[in-house]
This record gives sequence, C-alpha cells and structure tokens, in this order.
Amino acid sequence: MRKNIKLFSTFLVVAFMLILTACGSSETSGNGDDSGDGKKTLRVVTDAAYAPFEYQDKGEIVGFDIDLIKAVAKEAGYEIDIAHTGWDPIFVELEKKIADIGISSITINDDRKKTYDFSVPYFLSTNKIMVPEGSDIKSAEDLKDKTVAVQNATTGQEAVEGLLGKNSDQIKKFENNNLAILELKAGGADAVVADNTVIEEYAKNNPNDKFVIIEDKDAFAQEFYGIMFPKGSKLKADFDKALNEVFDNGTYAKIYNEWFKVDPDVQLLKD
Ligand code: ARG
Repeated sequence: MRKNIKLFSTFLVVAFMLILTACGSSETSGNGDDSGDGKKTLRVVTDAAYAPFEYQDKGEIVGFDIDLIKAVAKEAGYEIDIAHTGWDPIFVELEKKIADIGISSITINDDRKKTYDFSVPYFLSTNKIMVPEGSDIKSAEDLKDKTVAVQNATTGQEAVEGLLGKNSDQIKKFENNNLAILELKAGGADAVVADNTVIEEYAKNNPNDKFVIIEDKDAFAQEFYGIMFPKGSKLKADFDKALNEVFDNGTYAKIYNEWFKVDPDVQLLKD
C-alpha cells in the first residue's frame, strides 16, 4: 500500500514536470508564430519618433520606412510585426537576435557593420543643423561655442562630437529626436543636428516655432539608410532581392512620392 502511494506520487511529480515543460516551450517560442507556410512572422523594430520616416499617428506606427518595409516584406513573402521599441533597443534586440529586422532611418556605416548586416541602401540622407530664425549660427563651424542637442548614439551625435570634441559638455544627448527638438524650443540648446529630411519636415510643419535649416556639405557627409539585420542573418539575401524588385517595379517610387511629393533617384541608390 505504502509503496503504491509512493509510486503514485512519483508519477504525479513527473507528470507535473512534463506539463510545465510543455507550457514553457510554447510560451518561449515568442517571436514568430508559424504562419502556415513554414515562414515565421518577423519581428521588426523601430524608433517611431522620427517623422516622416517612422512615427506614431493615433496609436499607429506609420511613415515612409513603415510603408517600405511592408512592401518589401510582402515582396519577399514574409509576414511582419512592427514594434516601436525606441532607438537603443533596436541595436540590443538585433544583436541578441530577439528581433529579426530593424528599420529606423539607420545609416549604414563601418562601425555598425562590425555587429550587424545591412540591406542595399534605400535612402540618401545627410545631417543638417536646425536653429531658431535669426540665430548667428550659419555653418557647422559656428557650433563650436554653442550648445547642441542631438539624439543619443546617432550619426548626428558623432558629427557634432567631431566638431566639439567627444566629451564636450556642450552636447546634450536625448533618447529620441523629438526630445532634442523640444530642448531647442525651450531654449536649452542653440541648435539640433539630425537627418535633413526630419528637421526640414519639422520646420515646415511647425512654422510657429520659427526654425530654419542650415546645410553644411563640408562638415556633414552623405549617408545611406539600410535595413538592419543580425550579423549573418539569412534574411538579408531575400530582402535585398525584394528591395531591388520594389525599386524596379515602381512600388518604391510610389511610396516615395506619397511621402515626399517628388520622384526618387533610384539609380543613385543602385550606384
Ligand atoms: N540616420 C541617423 C543614424 O543612423 C539617425 C537615425 C535616427 N532614427 C530614428 N528613428 N530615431 O544614426
């Protein structure tokens, strides 16, 4: 009798452990439900505070990058799920392979290429300077005795560090670009340095702020945005192919036109 009870309780413990394991594994399958055809839903991460490329409108993530990644994923035959994680987490999630794809106006550069893979380039950009109307800042050189607000860990920050020194306390770094712009608005900074399209759109759409944009081709290099993947990701090949398809079949031009009201120079991206 005693032996039977012991056996039975052992059985209970084992059964319980099996159930636990089963629950655990179904929960940790996390990113990527199988969508029937064997391809999992890809986790796409972005910092949706960079209009017109990625931003939130009535709780929805929208923008040029968002329309582009949807079109490219569709072309490549993948389901995607887009999450607004903020800027720094994009890099963390891709390095740890929690996310599959990052799209967030991310400039392709050698430093990032050490840790990540990039698609072929899909957008040409450069940093520019946004200042209040009437400011005495006329070039990047003039930033040297000023306070400059930037988004942390961007090429804008790097460019300003090149001008003011890496540890300059005149550089104010913010988690997202909107906070940098707010600092300029509040008078806590003399300028914002960020991707041209973003600050040009901001100045145009917020005429009451009376901001103007300054270009300095000597100080700020041309940059190309790419879709970012974990190093060695097999997705790169599929997405490059799809991106080229979207360039060639007019979809890219259509999306570009919807957002920027002009035609893109697709050849420039391909050279
Ligand atoms: N192009 C710049 C970079 O790659 C800034 C991108 C910031 N993007 C954003 N969604 N906040 O560093």
